Amino acid sequence: MKNIVVGGQYGDEGKGKIISYLAIADDPQVIARGGVGPNAGHEVNYKGKRYPMRMLGCGFVNEKARLLIGAGVFVNPEVFLKEVDMINGRNRCGVDFRASLITKEHIERDSASDNSKKIGTTKTGCGPAVSDRVNRVGKLVSESPELKPYLTDVVKEVNEAKDVMVEGTQGFMLSLLYGTYPYVTSKDVSASTIAADVGLGPTQIDDVVMVIKSYTTRVGNGPFKHELSVEEATARKMQEYGTVTGRPRRSSPDLHFDDLKLAATINGATHIALTKVDVRFPGNDRLKKYADLTKEAKAFIENVEKKIGVPVTLIGTGPDVEDTIDRRG
Ligand code: IMP
Ligand code: MG
Repeated sequence: MKNIVVGGQYGDEGKGKIISYLAIADDPQVIARGGVGPNAGHEVNYKGKRYPMRMLGCGFVNEKARLLIGAGVFVNPEVFLKEVDMINGRNRCGVDFRASLITKEHIERDSASDNSKKIGTTKTGCGPAVSDRVNRVGKLVSESPELKPYLTDVVKEVNEAKDVMVEGTQGFMLSLLYGTYPYVTSKDVSASTIAADVGLGPTQIDDVVMVIKSYTTRVGNGPFKHELSVEEATARKMQEYGTVTGRPRRSSPDLHFDDLKLAATINGATHIALTKVDVRFPGNDRLKKYADLTKEAKAFIENVEKKIGVPVTLIGTGPDVEDTIDRRG
């Protein structure tokens, strides 16, 4: 099987947790990350430890899997090497030799530019690195001596492996093409682009899992429906803070179904993973069986399926990788 996991909202849907669950449950040989770069922050809570991941895939919790970064990704070598050390992954991590490098100068440009301030970027240098690549003046990962030992042909590896999981980053509403332009990230991040990022053709993909959170959050500027104040969000336990920037996330108490329907269509979603059901509906903490969910939670899930038209097969009931209900047959 070759599956892709993408975000259906503004990033921070809980992809990290769902991806790490799938990495163990489905046991893929190869886990490949697409998307933009270290602007993504994915939190994984595993065996009592918290891992804030920005460059490496969250599937690292499966210790046998090869962990790859695709050609479409923009790599900050410092962040990459720190994470390789953190997970003790020196002999199983690889970066496609065609991928792009993020330099100190890109980070400076991202921090200094007025437009980056207007958008509220993560200041990780991603936008300027993408624009250099587009202008054909970008640097490649092969120009970094520290990355040399990790360079590989990810295209060959993902196409030759039988079971592959592909990780997307950001979320559909931050996509350069389909999000709330110009308040978006610097690449398209829908499933087709994520597949191309790692070198898989669209006909190779079996399933697309679109992750959505039971309420909506957004960091950075741009349009956002039904926004709560920090006080209201705190009272409803919906107030969150960015993994990369530490900024308070903006939150909205509901799901924006028009956006989600478009996201499901363009991503070609075959499954929905619905996270943080326990936060929205008390009494569902850490449940592992669908039958045990409260009536309110079940009605909410059925409504999501009806409105979006895609089955909700994975349900998050707590921060830990194991706090997941799996209804896939
Ligand atoms: P950039 O991707 O750093 O250029 O930032 C563009 C916009 O996307 C800003 O509003 C960021 O806060 C937002 N953004 C980028 N990556 C993520 C992510 O992984 N999660 C949530 N928001 C993100
Ligand atoms: Mg995040």
